[in-house]
Amino acid sequence: MIEDMDFSEFDEKREGTSELENRMANTLNSFLNVAIIIDHITLLAHESGLGTCWVRYFNVAAVRKILAIPDNFTIVALLPIGYPSESGRMREPMDGESLILRWE
Ligand SMILES: Cc1cc2nc3c(=O)[nH]c(=O)nc-3n(C[C@H](O)[C@H](O)[C@H](O)COP(=O)(O)O)c2cc1C
Repeated sequence: MIEDMDFSEFDEKREGTSELENRMANTLNSFLNVAIIIDHITLLAHESGLGTCWVRYFNVAAVRKILAIPDNFTIVALLPIGYPSESGRMREPMDGESLILRWE
């Protein structure tokens, strides 16, 4: 979750960035922070023999009510964690070279 906060003290430190970037920076940073945390949790879960999965598509109102989450928190994702009932399939390792974007 992301808590509504006053980020205005960071605004003046972003000279030279585009207007769009400025407008979105605080929101983007908050979402990036959550993504990093979730990724670490998923890796730790896997290492511990647990299964998990990002869930971004859910009924926000229902989750807010069930978990009694106040309105000043934005729910970014759910992360169910448990013992898998079956073993998942392994992906083929990705070709790292194909992930690199180059331009002249
Ligand atoms: C930002 C994000 C949101 C996701 N939201 C959902 C979701 O709402 N429901 C779901 O079943 N999986 C969700 N996933 C999990 C992906 O479906 C999952 O990464 C994928 O099933 C991995 O399988 P793959 O090995 O086929 O890529 C989400 C993943 C990410 C990164």
